[in-house]
Amino acid sequence: MQKRKILIANWKTYIKNFSEIDEKIDEIKDQVFLKDLDIVICPSYIHLQSIANKLKDFEVFVGSQNLCSSESNANTGEVLASMLTDVGCQYCILGHSEVRERNNESSNIIASKVQIALKNSIIPIVCVGETLELREKSDYIKFLINQTIESLPQVSGIEDKDIIIAYEPIWSIGTGKVPSIEQIEEVISALKSIPGLSAAKFVYGGSVNEKNIDEICKVKSLDGVLVGGASTDVAKLKIISQVL
Ligand code: G3P
Repeated sequence: MQKRKILIANWKTYIKNFSEIDEKIDEIKDQVFLKDLDIVICPSYIHLQSIANKLKDFEVFVGSQNLCSSESNANTGEVLASMLTDVGCQYCILGHSEVRERNNESSNIIASKVQIALKNSIIPIVCVGETLELREKSDYIKFLINQTIESLPQVSGIEDKDIIIAYEPIWSIGTGKVPSIEQIEEVISALKSIPGLSAAKFVYGGSVNEKNIDEICKVKSLDGVLVGGASTDVAKLKIISQVL
């Protein structure tokens, strides 16, 4: 059964202030994405509530780019899942390669964050991806399957949960290099073979833009895309939404 398509915009720290945010929100409202798909905007923490409030009548969802791996009270510098739901956050990008590297986050930590997200009714967008070095070896599929399994909590009932697995080859992020259709298809079908993920959605991320979205959408097993740089241009986001 075809799952509802999803378009996720990871704004990272591209948008620096509230005046830019207001411009983007106005553009999103003007564009009115008429496709039958879910659109998720993932801004910086500081802009989340403003976007959630201003877009709540436009059927655009809001997500965060991370969350705290603890639910205790003493977590200096962190943002709790409960704080995110309190401001209208419904999704959360977890295990992004930039976060894994910067914070030295293990898949075990990601799995605990996924469990906290699910407990707080936040849909986790779990990122997995290989380095170019690994891609050039033969065992990248085994690596990706293991990284996915290790990044998910081993709890009962997870097969019924809304989870999004985002395949983001590290060598594609921000580089303009996109895997071939066959390469994406090979990874997505391998990840779909992991037991317990029948309800999950699978998306591709890594240099997605309005010029290559047609080609990427030839991967029929994809349920959507996770867009970084190009997603801050609302006109490009609209083109991508129309192709999905
Ligand atoms: O999370 C999506 C992001 O990592 C991809 O970035 O700029 O290559 O689309 P970009």
